Amino acid sequence: MSDERLIVALDVPNVLDGLELTRQLGDSVDFYKIGLGMLTGGGLALANELKSEHGKRIFLDMKLFDIGATVEAAVRGISQFDLDFLTVHGDPHVVRAAKEGAAGTDLNILAVTILTSLDRDDLDASCIKAGSITDLVQERAGTALAAGADGVIASPQEAALIRALPEAECKLIVTPGVRPAGADLGDQKRVATPAQAIADGVDHIVVGRPIWQAADPRAAAQAILAEMVSPQAARPNA
Ligand code: C5P
Repeated sequence: MSDERLIVALDVPNVLDGLELTRQLGDSVDFYKIGLGMLTGGGLALANELKSEHGKRIFLDMKLFDIGATVEAAVRGISQFDLDFLTVHGDPHVVRAAKEGAAGTDLNILAVTILTSLDRDDLDASCIKAGSITDLVQERAGTALAAGADGVIASPQEAALIRALPEAECKLIVTPGVRPAGADLGDQKRVATPAQAIADGVDHIVVGRPIWQAADPRAAAQAILAEMVSPQAARPNA
């Protein structure tokens, strides 16, 4: 059983560990996320190998943020690789520049709203304006989508609100911060179960530690795949 709606975050230190994990997961996982932690450990080479030799889909989680010209140049370079999703911060000037850089390719630009590991106290510490996180995420999602983003990254707790936005029609909602029932939250704060995320209109869930830290990653992935289609799934530990 596999399901492209599950994206596994390959947050392992290097290419060899990444290849071993993908070997263990085998045909149960079709879509992988490669992020900043793996970049200096051969992450781009691994992305290419998984795509071209194993037929996997690839999400490159770079969370780019810079002046427009720099973002455009960075995305133009990344677009030369045959990848599927790329993240940038959801500020409209960043999204517009990223879309320019990706013009003429199939790369989907996903806009990060507010990290799922942050709560209101964290935003205060970063001098981000008052208001509930939910309202801020919804506003950032709307402006990023209006600026041309192909989708947004948000917490599954905000998915239903984003899905209801007119700007979100035909756009992707991708959610980290997903925890199977009873799983350790780690540093994630705004979480939901796989079943809740899917029920709230999410297109893809991103799951890292509950799979790659499991004693049996393939069994962990398969349990999550089963939860994705189970309306009875319970809430994760709060
Ligand atoms: O291990 P865990 O399931 O928490 O991993 C979540 C992954 O999603 C990590 O790779 C993290 O960098 C990424 N992510 C996130 N929150 C965002 C965007 C990406 O947790 N807003």
